[in-house]
Amino acid sequence: MNIVVIGTGYVGLVTAAVLAKLGHRVWGLDVDESKVHRLQQSEIPFFEPGLKELVVQGLKKGNLQFTTTYAQVVPSAEVIFICVGTPAKKDGGYDLSYIFQSAKTIGQNLKKYTVVCIKSTVPPGTANEVKKIIHKQTKIPFDVAACPEFLKEGSAVADSLHPSRVVIGVESKRAKELLLKLHRPIKAPRLVCDINSAQMIKYAANAFLATKISFINSIARICDAVGADVGTVSQGLSLDPRISGQFLQAGLGYGGSCFPKDTWALISFARKLGYDFKFLKEVDQINQEQINYLVQKIIKSCGGSVEGKVLTILGLSFKPETDDIREARSIPLIKKLQEKGAKIKACDPVALENAAKVLKEVKLFKDPYLALENSSALILVTEWDEFKNLNFSKVGQIMAKKVIIDGRNIYDSKKLKKLGFQYKGVGRG
Ligand code: UGA
Repeated sequence: MNIVVIGTGYVGLVTAAVLAKLGHRVWGLDVDESKVHRLQQSEIPFFEPGLKELVVQGLKKGNLQFTTTYAQVVPSAEVIFICVGTPAKKDGGYDLSYIFQSAKTIGQNLKKYTVVCIKSTVPPGTANEVKKIIHKQTKIPFDVAACPEFLKEGSAVADSLHPSRVVIGVESKRAKELLLKLHRPIKAPRLVCDINSAQMIKYAANAFLATKISFINSIARICDAVGADVGTVSQGLSLDPRISGQFLQAGLGYGGSCFPKDTWALISFARKLGYDFKFLKEVDQINQEQINYLVQKIIKSCGGSVEGKVLTILGLSFKPETDDIREARSIPLIKKLQEKGAKIKACDPVALENAAKVLKEVKLFKDPYLALENSSALILVTEWDEFKNLNFSKVGQIMAKKVIIDGRNIYDSKKLKKLGFQYKGVGRG
């Protein structure tokens, strides 16, 4: 099938590359000329395992191409996916202007029946707006639809090729059949429904996963107070199939471009509908407080003050296997520690370039051992494999003080204590 994917961010580029791998003829479109130029040379604008290989393959085969011009690709498209950004506004609301701009330009270039399918995360009702905008531009028949995306950064390619489900929101039989045909090679349960329900599924899924994380972080607080182990509690919960063990990893809380933004957007959307989503506000509040909670732990572990002390942050990206630092927990944590007078050294395998743009007065390292030299505390923020498998005898020798604060509960506390480290996790001693 002839597909156009508008927007070459995480969702758009992965969608385009995966659809090309499945044999479709795909155009990735972006208004950013330099980005498109780089993509044409198979340069990927961000770090995502396995993505470059797929893009190279598609470009070589010729069924994946990139352009900045709607007029070149919209007329022959059977399905157009809108994957542009929906950034959060300062008040927690959402900015849909890129969606509407792209709908307008699609409308100006339609030449035959096409399904315009929204993949960006948008509130219910947006598809109707998109429909009105396109209608204003053209008399050509078209359908709007919504296929929300459930991929995770760091495993985006595998998640797209083997998703847990394919949700298809449609309002016509013709659009339903086209989208079912397009997804035929993907083996996963299908849920065909109305567009608003499809979009609610996406928000509800992210809000629910964020809820699980804030829930286990609240349980971790109580574990800390009574000397219980939150890891063991999670394990006990995971044995109940009604709960499932996923997203019950206590720690510094959630970051990234999705959970924070989407929970704020759902709160804001509910408010517009006259519903005060207090429950989700609390989920967000717990997540924000988790930073202060760790700061207090760090100060206590450093003998009551971090003033003038060198502290090492291991991990800057919002999670492993990505260079994305959007809403990464590392950033507010570092800023708060700096406010308390700490001198920060930080290490990350791939996110240093992005972090350098937002962090001030932080010494950045690729090598964890250099970052740990003369440090008064190791603070684990992102659970990269590189940090899991450190040589702790060596670490103990190069640090000024043998103090570890494990913000993701990845280390074996008994082993570290045996080596003479003072260890603190989140919800475990
Ligand atoms: C999330 C969802 O998991 C995807 O299903 C969804 O498609 C995506 O948002 C999106 O809306 O586009 P992503 O943000 O890439 O994916 O990353 P996650 O793996 O979900 O992690 C989000 C944050 O939660 C990370 O900061 C991670 O460290 C944190 N987390 C995750 C925990 O603190 N505890 C856990 O148990 C799991």
